[in-house]
Amino acid sequence: MKALICKSLGLPDTLSCEDVPDPVPGPGQVVVDMKAAGVNFPDALVIQGKYQFKPPLPFAPGAELAGIVSAVGEGVRNAKVGDRVIGSCQYGAFAEKVVVRASHLIPLPKGISFEVGASFTLAYGTSYHALKGRAGLKAGETLLVLGAAGGVGLAAVQIGKALGARVIAAASTPGKLAVCRENGADELIDYATEDLRERIKALTGGKGPDVIYDPVGGRYAEPAFRSIAWGGRYLVVGFADGQIPSLPLNLPLLKGASVVGVFWGEFVSRQLPDFVRDLTEMFALIAQGKLRPYISARYPLAQGAQAIADLLARRVTGKVVITNGDAAEVGQAAAAVPPPPPAATGAAPATPDGPIALADLHRLAGQSIGVSGWFTLDQARIDAFADCTQDHQWIHVDAERAARESPFGGTVAHGFLTLSMIPATCYELLLGRVQAAQAVNYGLDRVRFVAPVLAGKRVRNRVKVLSVEDRGMGRYLLTTENTVEIEGEEKPAVVAVALAMLM
Ligand SMILES: NC(=O)c1ccc[n+]([C@@H]2O[C@H](COP(=O)([O-])OP(=O)(O)OC[C@H]3O[C@@H](n4cnc5c(N)ncnc54)[C@H](OP(=O)(O)O)[C@@H]3O)[C@@H](O)[C@H]2O)c1
Repeated sequence: MKALICKSLGLPDTLSCEDVPDPVPGPGQVVVDMKAAGVNFPDALVIQGKYQFKPPLPFAPGAELAGIVSAVGEGVRNAKVGDRVIGSCQYGAFAEKVVVRASHLIPLPKGISFEVGASFTLAYGTSYHALKGRAGLKAGETLLVLGAAGGVGLAAVQIGKALGARVIAAASTPGKLAVCRENGADELIDYATEDLRERIKALTGGKGPDVIYDPVGGRYAEPAFRSIAWGGRYLVVGFADGQIPSLPLNLPLLKGASVVGVFWGEFVSRQLPDFVRDLTEMFALIAQGKLRPYISARYPLAQGAQAIADLLARRVTGKVVITNGDAAEVGQAAAAVPPPPPAATGAAPATPDGPIALADLHRLAGQSIGVSGWFTLDQARIDAFADCTQDHQWIHVDAERAARESPFGGTVAHGFLTLSMIPATCYELLLGRVQAAQAVNYGLDRVRFVAPVLAGKRVRNRVKVLSVEDRGMGRYLLTTENTVEIEGEEKPAVVAVALAMLM
């Protein structure tokens, strides 16, 4: 396969597109055939050895991608060959084939192209976490975004608008500011030609912005902070300027303001359920047309170095992607953003057949989610269960005696063994369909053992969602009715109402 290889640390012109061996997935990993990979500022830092982590040389940069799973390693349960996925990795995405940890994959939602999927998670994830999670931006507040035409900056402009704020976009050229305007900015500041403090004062009637989003740092930080409103929140996002500014500590005191750090990568690893909640909320905003990821340029893999060079030279707006494959498939020609859903009519919505965001789980209430595959309750499984539970009743484990004395003509499975198959069959029906990071078996509400299962018989589970309760903090309590059917028999083995917490 081809990959964009960094053999010695340096600027993008040290990268070369070369043939390297195809990767093989290890346990818990998959290989994704990359269709598009998002280019981010950290990629430019990693190849220079200036980022928090330093991959061993040689390596391919690139931290996020979308594509199709082409190989699956041992123990992977949430992905199979052919799945369309979004993946994240510390490096390696600028290659035709990319090894990704299965836990770092999410299904590519229907209606979202590879290129949007590849360039969305990091930039929008950072800005959503910053504005909603860290600053608590509220509708009606004023948000100032520095570097507003860049990757995370433009995402912040769109998210600020979606959250109901008045957005002031600051950038360095009229062309960049025009992009900010197209993407929803209410007011514009050209900080290359205008006095930042004076313009902020004029645009806010002297009050100042409630929230400042700063991915640039350098010489803009202090004048911006001096302009912040009383009780304002200053989001420290990055230092694209190259200079880490320092701030006199009397300024936060005088303004009753907070300096708020934003570290999205660490947030994802420490607070995964919160990240999953953010992601599902953002996908919902895309579906409603409130977020429209903006991709300004595509570079084939062989020209990937140019993409990073353009980013460093401040020549790009919004997101740029490295592509692999024909344009229509990657998404240039496809309508990447689905139209907003039709207004509610009062009729029950149809069950969605694509991936379901946790926030949309309630749409499944009252609906069947299908029937699992068959599985056989053979004697080996029954014996293993008896060993585990110390329940060696002859009706379960003594085949000779059961053949002579049992009314069923042989041994039968323990009722609790049949019951215990419910989680596995639910995973089969829900995994890859519901965008949950984790599902915890929360309990059972009612269980009825209806008919015995003769050893060797096949059973399957028919599942209906009874209710979905939002338990807050991105957690949803899912109540399902499970009917475990026995092949060729009318009566089911078990009917149980089970509870699962999805997050
Ligand atoms: N904290 C986190 O968790 C997190 C997550 C993602 C990214 N980041 C950081 O956020 C920053 C922006 O990332 P990005 O992917 O949005 O980058 P980007 O697309 O290149 O945007 C950066 C913007 O910064 C401005 N800028 C000012 N001086 C610059 C310089 N010397 N070189 C390049 N740009 C300069 C540019 O706008 P003008 O030309 O209009 O000034 C540019 O549009 C980076 O520092 C990145 O490391 C932080």
